[in-house]
Amino acid sequence: MNTANIHFYDLHPTMADLKAEVLKGLSVQPKTIPPKFFYDQYGSQLFDQITELPEYYPTRTEIGIFHEHGEEMAMQLGRGCWLLELGSGSSKKIRVLLDALQPVAYLPIDISKDHLLHSVHSLATDYPKLEIHAICADYTTDFQLPCSSVFRPAPGNEKNRVAFFPGSSIGNFEPSAAQELLQRVAHLLGPKGALLIGVDLKKDPTHLHAAYNDAQGVTAAFNLNLLTRLNRELQADFKLTEFEHHAFYNNQLGRVEMHLVSKCVQEIQVDGQRFAFAEGENIHTENSYKYTVTEFQNLASAAGFQPAQVWMDAAGLFSVHRLRVRR
Ligand code: AVJ
Repeated sequence: MNTANIHFYDLHPTMADLKAEVLKGLSVQPKTIPPKFFYDQYGSQLFDQITELPEYYPTRTEIGIFHEHGEEMAMQLGRGCWLLELGSGSSKKIRVLLDALQPVAYLPIDISKDHLLHSVHSLATDYPKLEIHAICADYTTDFQLPCSSVFRPAPGNEKNRVAFFPGSSIGNFEPSAAQELLQRVAHLLGPKGALLIGVDLKKDPTHLHAAYNDAQGVTAAFNLNLLTRLNRELQADFKLTEFEHHAFYNNQLGRVEMHLVSKCVQEIQVDGQRFAFAEGENIHTENSYKYTVTEFQNLASAAGFQPAQVWMDAAGLFSVHRLRVRR
């Protein structure tokens, strides 16, 4: 295993932070737990399985766009950049771009530590010359880059800074929070920066419904695994048979919503606190906003980016935007 070029920074939120966030989410109406809690080790594996499901079109469609236009993207972004990736997961997509982009350094950020370590090790084996700064952190908070001397070098020695944010993870945020996040990314990148971001497009609700209600039940298992995680890490006593997966497209808000629905009246303990559930009551676990090209460009503009280019698949399912930081 080649680990010579890997630097690792652990900024993972503490158990106390996670606990406080979950307890707060269960105390409000409607009960809510943010989607970042899906990604424990098993949850990250389940997500990787989702990306290969026949119904889940976003991953393969986006990778197809990268295969088709990767060279052009790399040319536009500039070879030899510093490359930051938000929510790198298994770092599969970046492989499609690495040969074309030839970055000086790759800085993946992910909340799932084991998943991150595992993927950078395999990346380092395949790209022995690539300098890797792996950061385990929650990018939804206002974090600083621990390796800022790498990413923010002395004046005169600047390279292009590029952020890669694939997979439509931006869709997990309310539009106002998405705008704030992009604003922070623009700030991290600085005036020479560019962002390559994958955004799932609005489409026929039937198609969306199928993608979040797969026949094999992997998405349901992914959603329910959140409760398994709370049982294990926060000493909760959720019975997995008493909750069910519910996902649907909310046309008015332009988003897929995922919920865990209580099948009966029940009381759950989490870390010694009691939470009452009515029959049919939801825990809201995820939003996945869908945008038209124009809607997303408007959002990005409001965050301080200048839309530069958009690539799509032939069927118009998914978009990849190149945005420049507006000076
Ligand atoms: C990784 C947030 C883009 O919203 O489609 C997949 C997560 N949830 N199936 C998405 C997810 C249910 C995914 N994102």
